[in-house]
Amino acid sequence: MSRTIIVSNRLPTKVLRTEESLTFQASEGGLATGLGSIYRQEGNVWVGWPGLFVEDANEEAYVREQLRDDSMVPVFLTEPEIRDFYEGFSNSTLWPTFHYFSQYATYEQSHWEAYVAVNEKFCQAVLALAGLEDTIWVHDYQLLLLPAMLRQARPEATIGFFLHIPFPSYELIRVLPWRKELLEGMLGADLLGFHTFGYMRHFLSAVSQLLGFSSQNGQIETGARTVLVDAFPMGIDYERYVQAAASEAAVQHEAVYREALREVRVILSIDRLDYSKGIAQRLRAFELLIQRYPEWREQVSLIMVVVPSRDQVAQYAALKEEIDELVGRINAQYRTITWTPIHYFYRSFPLEELASLYRLAEVALVTPMRDGMNLVAKEFVASKADGRGVLILSERAGAARELSDALIINPTDTGQLAEAMHDALVMPEDEQQLRMGAMQALVRQYNVFAWAKLFMARLAYSKMKQHTLATE
Ligand code: G6P
Repeated sequence: MSRTIIVSNRLPTKVLRTEESLTFQASEGGLATGLGSIYRQEGNVWVGWPGLFVEDANEEAYVREQLRDDSMVPVFLTEPEIRDFYEGFSNSTLWPTFHYFSQYATYEQSHWEAYVAVNEKFCQAVLALAGLEDTIWVHDYQLLLLPAMLRQARPEATIGFFLHIPFPSYELIRVLPWRKELLEGMLGADLLGFHTFGYMRHFLSAVSQLLGFSSQNGQIETGARTVLVDAFPMGIDYERYVQAAASEAAVQHEAVYREALREVRVILSIDRLDYSKGIAQRLRAFELLIQRYPEWREQVSLIMVVVPSRDQVAQYAALKEEIDELVGRINAQYRTITWTPIHYFYRSFPLEELASLYRLAEVALVTPMRDGMNLVAKEFVASKADGRGVLILSERAGAARELSDALIINPTDTGQLAEAMHDALVMPEDEQQLRMGAMQALVRQYNVFAWAKLFMARLAYSKMKQHTLATE
């Protein structure tokens, strides 16, 4: 039987070291939460890093064994690899560049070398596992070289690649010293998927300008092979969020929160700690809202969840300080004995508690500076069973291409964002329901299962087409 081998840097389960033992927890981020629902189907396997540095062979064997029952195969990274590959090239070179934060990017030859070596390590792990009939589906910017490495070892393999972050304009890509190698790495796949048509267009332009390969109708001719490129906006496991929001636990949590907050209305913000998410700008916009419209003071609070992420990378640590300072200052300036403007949580929440926050919130702020897709926007939509609630969405999130019934804003325009919050708070209920209903229909239909199915069908088609061409 043929299987799909999913390969990503991070597994959907991460291992944490506590004082006495190792514990297993769900990973954060769009990739893990989005794909988490589909990989168990039909005997698929997921290959990736379990998120911690294992100390010895015993520990390694224990983790391997625990993950095996859940169809996961760990790739262990050494401490220098975590530093140079993960924190270094992946998150200090590629992440800032692809999110239009070039000013934060570093260009270290040693980080590049670690990136090549770790991609090679993943390649060996996949080759040890994959049968000739299996489909290999590689994910995200940490593994851009992997498709070509696999192709070289297995010229006939079926290889798909999906990028979960934006693919930026050629002007940003051209700055990277290793730009050609990165594009060639991706072109080892049979099919390359992006969240939006815009990202795909940027990719085709980079391939044409840097490698000289032309394309027609999303089909790149590399000379040796044909590679298909297409846009597949990723969805969520819609029913999972509907059920979580309807669960007894979520209802109970919500009741407790409501009582604690008394009559105060809630605006919600949930992100990983990341400068691409526009968290500091959002806080300034909230402050502007209560400055411009003092009538909202004591009436509205912002609940802001920031999930810890990559805090060993300097820019992330600096952002954490900036947020701490901003929240402290705004709260100190405006709070009253009975009202806290911003309820700030720096930790992750289990699904039921997240669901209760989605239930509680009248407005969700999803206002990244750049975001490949942003699944929080879709999770909020899925959780609003009564059809009420307003989504404020950045025009620079991939999700804005689909969720046009949100209030779409430019996240750098603090004034516009403050006005959008005001508009959301006064929006009549029937307009809320009209907008929310339209978004729910879309998010329900183009869920993560439909997304994976479409990608797989297209991948099978690209393979069939290659065979036909080869035998003609
Ligand atoms: C984004 C990326 C994922 C990544 C996630 C969490 O969603 O696209 O590839 O796994 O962030 O980041 P982390 O560095 O913790 O894996």
